[in-house]
Amino acid sequence: MKVLDAQFMKGFIRMANDGWEQGWHERNGGNLSYRIKKEEIEAVRGELKADAPWQPIGTSVPKLGGEYFLVTGSGKYFRNVILDPEDTTAIIELDAAGTQYRICWGLAGGGRPTSELPSHLMNHEVKMEASGGKHRVIYHAHPANVIALTFVLPLKDEVFTRELWEMATECPVVFPDGVGVVGWMVPGGRDIAVATSALMKKYDVAIWAHHGMFVSGEDFDLTFGLMHTVEKSAEILVKVLSVRPDKLQTITPQNFRDLAVDFKVTLPEKFLYEK
Ligand code: 13P
Ligand code: ZN
Repeated sequence: MKVLDAQFMKGFIRMANDGWEQGWHERNGGNLSYRIKKEEIEAVRGELKADAPWQPIGTSVPKLGGEYFLVTGSGKYFRNVILDPEDTTAIIELDAAGTQYRICWGLAGGGRPTSELPSHLMNHEVKMEASGGKHRVIYHAHPANVIALTFVLPLKDEVFTRELWEMATECPVVFPDGVGVVGWMVPGGRDIAVATSALMKKYDVAIWAHHGMFVSGEDFDLTFGLMHTVEKSAEILVKVLSVRPDKLQTITPQNFRDLAVDFKVTLPEKFLYEK
């Protein structure tokens, strides 16, 4: 089978384009990666090359040794993925130690995988373990409302989680574990990857102050839907704060406890503090 005919490739392209249409990917902003299933990689094996040079990942992900990923390219524009996936994305293979990668397909015009590859792979390693292998998608975007909130809310997991939960009744059902926040850091390296993957042990969402958001999920629908839900909630909060800084009424801690019972989710009490 051709890579471009594979279902996982079609899902990846659709998700990248959906993100572009949401306005989350100015220029080359954002990146996406998918941990390819064994049977999916075997189906396209005939198109993969195995002679590209090994390159350092910039960190080590030993539990991902030998895995294959579909990733966006560094400097590539999400708006171009649908037009030319073979130039804007790549399939990479990791070596057995999980310290090097090589390109097996894609980046036809040259280039390298996203500069956030260390964060993507460290997040994949953490989430694969935490989810018993279910999580396969890591997504980084630059959604404006979440970024705006990182200038006006304290950069604390408890505050962001609670404020986002209050903006839409279904939020605590969609991300019951909450969201984590990373203070401003230089992007693209190992340090921010370590900080983000530490949060991913607890959460499916990590917000990068003054930069954007990382989310993790089982498939393209769930992962895109999570980014969309968090950003929609942030948009409502930006509107509320713009109209008046103090809410006249909101969803209370007891309301959240009642919701948790009916929707069968566990909401950590650390987010249900008295204000
Ligand atoms: P890349 O073009 O290298 O993926 O970088 C975009 C980005 O959003 C960095 O945080
Ligand atoms: Zn970014």
